[in-house]
Amino acid sequence: MKDYLFRCITCKKEFSPTDIEYTCPDCGERFGTLEVIYDYDEIQRNFTIRTLSQNPVFDITRYCAILPVENFDKLTPLKIGGTSLYSFPEIANEMGISNFYLKDDTRNPTASYKDRATAIVLLKAMEMNKQVVATASTGNAACSLAGLGAIIPLNIKIFVPKNIPLQKLTQIKVYGAELNKIDTNYDETFDICTNKCLEQGWYNRSAGLNPYLVEGKKTGALEIAEQLSWNVPDKVFVPIGDGSIISGIVKGFWELHKLSLTQKIPQIIGVQAQNADSVKKMFEYFKKTGEIKLFDKKANTKADSIAVGKPREAVKAVKYLAKYKGDVISVSDKDIINAIYELASRTSVFAEPAAAASYAGLKKYQSLNKLNKRDNAVIIITGNGLKDCEWIKLNNKS
Ligand SMILES: Cc1ncc(COP(=O)(O)O)c(C=O)c1O
Ligand SMILES: [Zn+2]
Repeated sequence: MKDYLFRCITCKKEFSPTDIEYTCPDCGERFGTLEVIYDYDEIQRNFTIRTLSQNPVFDITRYCAILPVENFDKLTPLKIGGTSLYSFPEIANEMGISNFYLKDDTRNPTASYKDRATAIVLLKAMEMNKQVVATASTGNAACSLAGLGAIIPLNIKIFVPKNIPLQKLTQIKVYGAELNKIDTNYDETFDICTNKCLEQGWYNRSAGLNPYLVEGKKTGALEIAEQLSWNVPDKVFVPIGDGSIISGIVKGFWELHKLSLTQKIPQIIGVQAQNADSVKKMFEYFKKTGEIKLFDKKANTKADSIAVGKPREAVKAVKYLAKYKGDVISVSDKDIINAIYELASRTSVFAEPAAAASYAGLKKYQSLNKLNKRDNAVIIITGNGLKDCEWIKLNNKS
């Protein structure tokens, strides 16, 4: 087995991955989320720009040396990650920055960023001889687990809230996973799933509980750095729900820097919906006081994937962002919807609302005069627009 440890994000206690599955027993859920820490000196020997350049395959498998799995043999042959990074010079010009890049993660097997994380969790589940893997999800993690799990001899159980868009529900059903649509919001659905997993001994993929998710999610950062010939961008805009994708993005850039593959860690900017902005509140409070305090609330946004009021990976996200000069901002639903139309007409990329939040965030940064003319900025488009079309009924554009 690969040499790595789990470390609690709060008390920093270290655990062997054979001793513990989810969170630090002393700090509990949310405060006790675990980081996966490797022997970086060992990795540095074989994980170099030269060894990478000899590998013609461009997907998440190329980063196996820095992931907690031995190989990807038992997984789908479909390509996970390795998504395009497009440059749009006209948009950069208009924004008054050097370069504008769009990382198109709508092009994953189940059409969202979540496939990167599901891949790692499924491999670990098989390694640990689990029979059942379950997840709570706003929608995309469920589609991903159902989809990538469909061809693996594992039972997949899905827990989603009542506001899940029809398109995501359809995806889950087509893949044949057991579907539990709970008549409540995501935050309560999460707790129902967690309790069921504990009661039944199912392996839980849910965000903030499963320490392997962030490992899969960091691969987007590794790709961006490599696609820019190891000249990391200045700013990266990432939507935040539970805070797991953004934690992965920061960790990915941090690890590349630690391994001396890159010169710096970019400024990562998290984007939340205005009425689902608990992480933004936590971040601001942490910057002011140095203390972590939860700001749970009832989330209310058309961007269903980031309609999270009780973010589960927020402690990690806030600590990582504060450590590396990150930022968290919020945008209105109107800004998000406008961003969907603008992205579609200017880049041909159709983003779901949560994903378009990253572009809305960049635009907000511009309006706040927080962009620099030498900036190379990246937005990550985390989910395909065809997955979530419900908002259009409520929107007055036709
Ligand atoms: C399309 C999309 N973007 C962003 C996010 C937010 O990711 P996280 O919950 O890891 O912060 C999600 C999560 O479901 C998502 O599906
Ligand atoms: Zn702890």
